[in-house]
Amino acid sequence: MVWAGEREVRAHRGTQIPVVVSVAYGYDDMDEWYEVALGKKPGHIYSRNTNPTVQAFEEKVRILEGAAAATSFSTGMAAVSNTLYTFLRPGDRVVSIKDTYGGTTKIFTEFLPKLNIDATLCNTGDHEAIETEIGRGCQILYLESPTNPTVKITDIERLAKAGKAAGAIVVVDNTFATPINQNPLCLGADLVLHSATKFLGGHADAMGGVVCGRKELVEQIYHYREINGATLDPWSAYLLLRGMKTLKLRVEQQTRSAMEIAKFLQKQELVEAVYYPGLETHVHHDIAKQQMRGFGGMLSFALKGGLEAVGIMLPKLEYANRAANLGAVETTYGPARTTSHVECTVEERQAMGIPEGLVRISAGIEDVEDLIADLEQALQYLAAHLK
Ligand SMILES: Cc1ncc(COP(=O)(O)O)c(C=O)c1O
Repeated sequence: MVWAGEREVRAHRGTQIPVVVSVAYGYDDMDEWYEVALGKKPGHIYSRNTNPTVQAFEEKVRILEGAAAATSFSTGMAAVSNTLYTFLRPGDRVVSIKDTYGGTTKIFTEFLPKLNIDATLCNTGDHEAIETEIGRGCQILYLESPTNPTVKITDIERLAKAGKAAGAIVVVDNTFATPINQNPLCLGADLVLHSATKFLGGHADAMGGVVCGRKELVEQIYHYREINGATLDPWSAYLLLRGMKTLKLRVEQQTRSAMEIAKFLQKQELVEAVYYPGLETHVHHDIAKQQMRGFGGMLSFALKGGLEAVGIMLPKLEYANRAANLGAVETTYGPARTTSHVECTVEERQAMGIPEGLVRISAGIEDVEDLIADLEQALQYLAAHLK
């Protein structure tokens, strides 16, 4: 995390990566220019295609995910959409799960059907049903684990095997787990992608996305992106790089805190359910234990008083950003109703097993004692004010 991908890009004996803001790169030698433009010699031509700061970011993620190649994007959604649009053609089929990130679900349900591409979304965790759908044929198997907001887990190794047998490209969104807790490529995936906006950057001040995996696949995605233009900005790349130096420290602390918070919430009278893959009561705890090094910094809980209780309790929290984000150094709370699943109806949320009183927590790096004391006082306030 600290050194990977950095040395090649440093300049003027600087100990830090420079932010190269140049849009274009000049050449006096026409032959050299030609060679670089054709990709026969290393170098840069135009920053929509490649940029030294951006390349250092890609290199760092590539190494952390154990991938042969990586390419980056302006946002996580650009990583998701560019990856899908690179490989899918009219008449193709994607198999995925119902609990992917809301934006990804929209691509499956709203945009792909317009291109005559079918996306079959299976119940997350129903591995037999997913295998059956894969067996019917698909070009892409798209997984996300853990999922948003009920932190469900899918068995990546098992499904990647089925995907490969069907000749599909297996893609995994690893945003929640981060390369610290999970490496999908080691579990058989072909491509792993991230919203770098979240844990990778970690400071909620830069947006970005990245996809890593087999060279021949990443090259095709890079080509689609260089022409379609969802390029990562060098300033953002620098902020993401700087954030990533502390990725391990942050994520390990966030993982420990999420576990402590989950255990605390489980004991609370007003809490109906706690969703965290590290709890033995979690439906997919065994799979999580097998494929993850740690259970991650994301958890959710549902309050007994539903939406009314959320409205009373959340404003009372002191160490809390109440916002549609996650993975930052500050603890962030977000009800599914106003964040990940804002576009769903009450009935749709219910059908997905998301209670109206569900609140997602992204554990920050604060002392966990402070976070628990904060939750305790907000729950006490709730108990005194809930009718
Ligand atoms: C799991 C997951 N994937 C992808 C995205 C999209 O990332 P971005 O907001 O950077 O476009 C998000 C955003 O919340 C996410 O949580």
